[in-house]
Amino acid sequence: MNGKLMAAGIAFAFGAIQLPTATLAQQPLVIKFSHVVSPDAPKGKAANYFKELAEKYTNGKVKVEVYPNSSLYKDKEELEALQLGTVQLLAPSISKFGPLGIKEFDVFDLPFLMSDDARARQMMASPMMGDLNKKLEAKAISPLAYWDNGAHVYTANKALVSPADFRGLKMRIQGSKVLDAVARELGAIPQIMAFSELYQALQTGVVDGEDNVPSNILTQKFYEVQKHLTVSYHGRLTYALVTNKKFWDTLPADLREPLGRAVKESTDFFNSTAEKDNADALERIKASGKIEFHYLDDAQKKAWVAKLMPVHKEMQSRFGKDFIEKIYKASGFVAPQS
Ligand code: LMR
Repeated sequence: MNGKLMAAGIAFAFGAIQLPTATLAQQPLVIKFSHVVSPDAPKGKAANYFKELAEKYTNGKVKVEVYPNSSLYKDKEELEALQLGTVQLLAPSISKFGPLGIKEFDVFDLPFLMSDDARARQMMASPMMGDLNKKLEAKAISPLAYWDNGAHVYTANKALVSPADFRGLKMRIQGSKVLDAVARELGAIPQIMAFSELYQALQTGVVDGEDNVPSNILTQKFYEVQKHLTVSYHGRLTYALVTNKKFWDTLPADLREPLGRAVKESTDFFNSTAEKDNADALERIKASGKIEFHYLDDAQKKAWVAKLMPVHKEMQSRFGKDFIEKIYKASGFVAPQS
């Protein structure tokens, strides 16, 4: 550095040179929005839409930086970063809250709990979520909305048609204890793994299969490194749009109102695009011809449900029978008579 520059640097550091007030006043508030999926997946699109609306509604007083594809943080790191306030917005799958010490969200992973998209959305927006939201708040996380991304299908390097087909397979799961129990009940070996590591793990055979929504299987190209896809719709992918509680609570009112509006409208956007995106993704994966499709007929589906009902029973000791029954009521699930 030359002498003049160094002198200017020192003067600036000690406040001898001041930026014009107008320049300071114009510095936008930066909101970092980190997520793990592709910008072309429903969550990626909704994050970009939120950015557009937030910047527009605050007249540029807020700048949203969106970091897709785990480019800023991976699954577990992003939640820790949110608690520390080094990132302000995330939309993780609610199956990833367990490691924070909040076990209740895992209940939504009970197999075949939700059959109906409209009902799933209604449930996540209902007052029943109040107690669960408080659990997040106690961990410095404020939920702003829930985004329902539809039903899971399985992919694997062998055909999964009957529950016995899972025996001995290494299956990647998210962090939820219910998903762990599901894999074990099927005789598979569950492995918790960050989403960002999944493509390579499937490609190299570190795991044999996984379950996800079609839009993720398409945009992450999992279908290129898996041989079979079963349209099982056995579980769901729900996101919580979450922020750091202190950050949100201390926002000036003139920013909170337009940001709240951007949250509401990007939630509507998510809900109107996700269903179509997943249906389109399934068709595009099929059209690629790279993966064999399997649909379960009624008898096969019945066999899966029967095989997995013991997980519902086993989880009574984890969540309490009353809580599970409350969730059944909200989701419309009726346990089959055995
Ligand atoms: C996964 O981890 O499998 C997905 O839920 C990732 C995501 O956020 O959609």
